[in-house]
Amino acid sequence: MSSNITTYFCKECGYETPKWAGKCPVCDAWDSFKESTSVTGKKKSGGKLNVPLLHQLASEPIKTIEPQSNERLLTGNKEFDRVIGGGIINGMVCLIGGEPGIGKSTLMLQIADEIAQKGWKVLYISGEESRDQIKQRSDRVKTKSDSLFLFCSNSVEHIIDVISKDEPDLVVVDSIQSIGIDEQSGSPGSVSQVRESTILLTQLAKRQNIPMFIIGHVTKEGLVAGPKIIEHLVDTVLYFEGDNYNQLKILKTTKNRFGSTNEIGVFEMGADGLTEVLNPSRLFIRDEDLSAGSAIGCVIEGTRSFLIEVQALVTPAVYGNAQRIALGIDHKKLSLMLAIIEKKLSLKIRENDVFVNLVGGLKVSDPALDLAFIAAIISSYENQPLPPKTIFLGEIGLNGEIRPVSNIDKRIKEATKLGYERIVVPEKSKVTVAKNKIKRIDYLNKIYPILFS
Ligand code: TYD
Ligand code: MG
Repeated sequence: MSSNITTYFCKECGYETPKWAGKCPVCDAWDSFKESTSVTGKKKSGGKLNVPLLHQLASEPIKTIEPQSNERLLTGNKEFDRVIGGGIINGMVCLIGGEPGIGKSTLMLQIADEIAQKGWKVLYISGEESRDQIKQRSDRVKTKSDSLFLFCSNSVEHIIDVISKDEPDLVVVDSIQSIGIDEQSGSPGSVSQVRESTILLTQLAKRQNIPMFIIGHVTKEGLVAGPKIIEHLVDTVLYFEGDNYNQLKILKTTKNRFGSTNEIGVFEMGADGLTEVLNPSRLFIRDEDLSAGSAIGCVIEGTRSFLIEVQALVTPAVYGNAQRIALGIDHKKLSLMLAIIEKKLSLKIRENDVFVNLVGGLKVSDPALDLAFIAAIISSYENQPLPPKTIFLGEIGLNGEIRPVSNIDKRIKEATKLGYERIVVPEKSKVTVAKNKIKRIDYLNKIYPILFS
């Protein structure tokens, strides 16, 4: 006999509880619990475990276990390979999350084709789009391989059947919300269907030792049962982001059992698919002189450093409460910087609306951008552009001190490579390159002569 068990999942973090709650005790999200029903068999032994003593099972010393070969397959797409930790590993299950329309299907079709061109048999499974639609996309991105196969289905049972029969070397599932288990209640996309389908596919990938890429949508409001609830079931989680009005797309890792999570990959969407951006600095900065409210900083993401323009707009507040809007950085960081500017430089920031933005739709938490943001805010407040070919590197402390940042030499090298002549760095930073271009600052109250001399 079987019975229905109802549980509740937090759609933000995947926490499971038998009782509904208004607020998730793990991630503090409000109204995030979704009901999920699963069918289970009745316990036969009245709660007791019924374990037959086979005397055949045994543990083994860890020392004698032969290490598995972790040979990695390079897809040939440098941005993608770096983000997933240096290539694809057999048996790895990777989730690719992102908002609808960001370019997940395009990215994975292109990667699938690149891998197939290396002689691997690649199976692209689509539950979302028809054969014709996928064919149109493949014509658009000009896929070339003969060993790239397509199977369109919404049924996990059918998908597993085809994978078991065809024995592909790599599988892409597009998308997890569009497929479901025929026998189970709930439509595809429901919490239980998404979770159970992922479990079945993951088991299959491990059993057949094939890499599998699972695409999952997230909406801004997190309305659909999104990738959050399956993150813990997979080895690697990638997110594809960027705004829909911008051609630049960023691939990030938030979890990686086989590598680091710091790397980002930058892609540009064009008329015939995504192209790698190997030198992002050129896209995030402009050649012409900056207007008031713009400054250049440098961020480090993983092993790569690149320059980026930060922008600020400071205007008199029209309504009672001044607005503070931060795009690309944490809004708390913005409040903190404004409080320090107000206190240490006696500027009347509180009477102004302040907007800050990181160019290119990038979101970063690198504290080395603090000084560039502060320079941009002051430049907009004073309505005076900053000196040309100048870059700002430094973290701000609560007392207005400018603190050293990591990898300063690497950042300076990137700036000098692109022709920057004046590099403002924290007093205490140990710099060994381009010493003649360095301008040092210890406290925020000494910034005016540096900005407007
Ligand atoms: P898509 O990969 O379908 O996004 P997702 O799978 O994340 O929902 O592509 C999204 C957008 O990219 C779509 O609006 C069309 C655009 N696009 C291009 O600009 N150039 C191209 O070559 C392709 C294939 C798509
Ligand atoms: Mg898609």
